[in-house]
Amino acid sequence: MKNESIQQSKRISKDQIKQVADKVVQHLAQQRQLRENQIPKVSLQPEHIENCELLLNRHQLLGKMKKNSIVAEIGVDEGKFSQLIHKKVKPQKFHLIDMWGSDRFHDGKFEAVKDYFAEEIKEETVRIHKIMSTKAAHEFKEEYFDWIYIDTDHSYETTRDELQLFAPKVKPGGIMAGHDYRLGNWVSMYRYGVIEAVHEFCVNYNWELVYLTVEPTESQSFAIRKIQEE
Ligand SMILES: C[S@@+](CC[C@H](N)C(=O)[O-])C[C@H]1O[C@@H](n2cnc3c(N)ncnc32)[C@H](O)[C@@H]1O
Repeated sequence: MKNESIQQSKRISKDQIKQVADKVVQHLAQQRQLRENQIPKVSLQPEHIENCELLLNRHQLLGKMKKNSIVAEIGVDEGKFSQLIHKKVKPQKFHLIDMWGSDRFHDGKFEAVKDYFAEEIKEETVRIHKIMSTKAAHEFKEEYFDWIYIDTDHSYETTRDELQLFAPKVKPGGIMAGHDYRLGNWVSMYRYGVIEAVHEFCVNYNWELVYLTVEPTESQSFAIRKIQEE
């Protein structure tokens, strides 16, 4: 009799756990759906992809970028990709823009980037801007950059604002590129909005995709350019 009642209470508690787990799963699905509904889906037209070239990875993308140019990397972290840009493209002037200061992207990383580029900072070929991307845009004159690379929080809203604010700062024929052209991070269940922001921007402002990368081991990159009017 005693054993029977223990077994019954075990059964009940398993059922209760399942009910709670089902509710959590349902709640998370609802949250994801709400987020999904906030991200606009604008379809590209043939003219937005007709000159688009596929590249294996973002290293190859750097090979396509203008050398001895004026460049910004927006979202630097500890500067791994900045180092690669610097070695491969040899920018005439290289602006590194990042707000740093969070737990993950902390000031130690900011200091490490400053140390690595100490000589170039002295020579004024590298400049570090510790500031939010959307505020940083106002620090540059119109048609200043040859190309920029955006790699900040990958959300739809931030990417949309960055593209809109930096577009006038890029020279005619210049390029806006960026990382994380994919739906999101599967492991952390974080929905990105880079694809949607880029497509919407191309349609609304008449820009075209010129490069997309297809690496399977990390996020893909995009590059867009204003469509030349005839
Ligand atoms: C993914 S990491 C950049 C990685 C780097 N581009 C690379 O490939 O090695 C993102 C960085 O963006 C910065 N960040 C995120 N949101 C930002 C914003 N709104 N303005 C400026 N920086 C931002 C973070 O501080 C972080 O250092």
